[in-house]
Amino acid sequence: MNTAATPGAPASMIRITFLSNDAKVVSAAAGGNLLRISLREQGGIPFKCGGGLCGTCKCLVETGIEHTDAIKPKEKKHLTEAEMAQGYRMACQTFVSGDIAVSWQPRDAGK
Ligand code: FES
Repeated sequence: MNTAATPGAPASMIRITFLSNDAKVVSAAAGGNLLRISLREQGGIPFKCGGGLCGTCKCLVETGIEHTDAIKPKEKKHLTEAEMAQGYRMACQTFVSGDIAVSWQPRDAGK
């Protein structure tokens, strides 16, 4: 995976790699909400409520978990301790301050 900095990009920009969407890479302002970035850039993370209730946006931060903020109580309702230890988050509850790569289970496998 190419993790070199984007030439000319301001230091406050970060890169999000959407692994389950052909490893699509987008840049976003540091500190943004992961689901919002996905929506704006068509990253493809599944979601329903956007408010930490449904659990649809569960995803695995495969690299860069140290660039995400603290796990919220709402996330603990949907994630096991083991999942959290592996790096699972709920995208709508996660804010990112640096480069990450994220994957998820496609929800529309029957389509
Ligand atoms: S979209 Fe429903 S919990 Fe994140």
